[in-house]
Amino acid sequence: MDEHTLRKTLSDIPLGGLRTFSQAGSTNDMALAWAADGAPNLSLVYAEEQTSGRGRGSHRWITPPGTALAFSLVLRPFPGEAQSVPLFSGLGALAVCEALGMRRLHPEIKWPNDVLLNRRKVCGILAEAVWLGDKVDSVVLGIGLNVKPEAVPPSEQLYFPATCVEAEMGKEVDRLGLLKDILQALLYWRSLLTKDVFSHAWEKHLAFCGEQVEIRTDDTPSRTGIVEGLERDGSLRLRSPGGQVFTVQFGEVHLRPVL
Ligand code: BTN
Repeated sequence: MDEHTLRKTLSDIPLGGLRTFSQAGSTNDMALAWAADGAPNLSLVYAEEQTSGRGRGSHRWITPPGTALAFSLVLRPFPGEAQSVPLFSGLGALAVCEALGMRRLHPEIKWPNDVLLNRRKVCGILAEAVWLGDKVDSVVLGIGLNVKPEAVPPSEQLYFPATCVEAEMGKEVDRLGLLKDILQALLYWRSLLTKDVFSHAWEKHLAFCGEQVEIRTDDTPSRTGIVEGLERDGSLRLRSPGGQVFTVQFGEVHLRPVL
């Protein structure tokens, strides 16, 4: 994908800036460095290949050249968004769902922010907040979407089954068109981030609703429960086997279906 075509395709998206790379370590790392150096709101770092991409926790996210979308946005929270920063990763997931839905696919969100197609992970999102004292200065929202089969890691490296957009659609996909649709959806839903309609749209895509899942965090014992829905602040609402309703907040949380 050449830079000229990328710039032209994205010309009607009000990006704060654009940096493209044929190869990068991690677009999140580059966006974090750019944010520290004053990147304006909605600056985009895009890479055709990532050699040391990062996932949540200690996971790696490798992007072979020309097979996927790997990009990071620098978002500067507006005053009204200050309390809604935890929702930014849901925003990314919802934008990806919308773009995939436009292609007649039926994406679901494995809370908090993995996007699934046919119960297989197609997209991962890594949102990293940069704090200045007690104020969030920026959020770097990194999105990795498997488009071609070569983007899907070998199964022995996976902690959850994975797929790619082309396998699910059974045909070649225009990656640039997909990127543009994701960015447009992200702009639209960001303007509604603090409204009920946003959490409702996110909830509509929630995977495993009415099903039993296991919730695991790094420092507390795992819990099981039936997924009931989302709270307005983006936390997940479940019902325990004993019938009690409990919620789980963002953080290093991993959710798995109980088979
Ligand atoms: C996960 O599923 O654990 C999150 C994966 C996030 C991967 C994307 S690819 C673009 C951006 N740059 C990174 O280093 N990571 C994110």
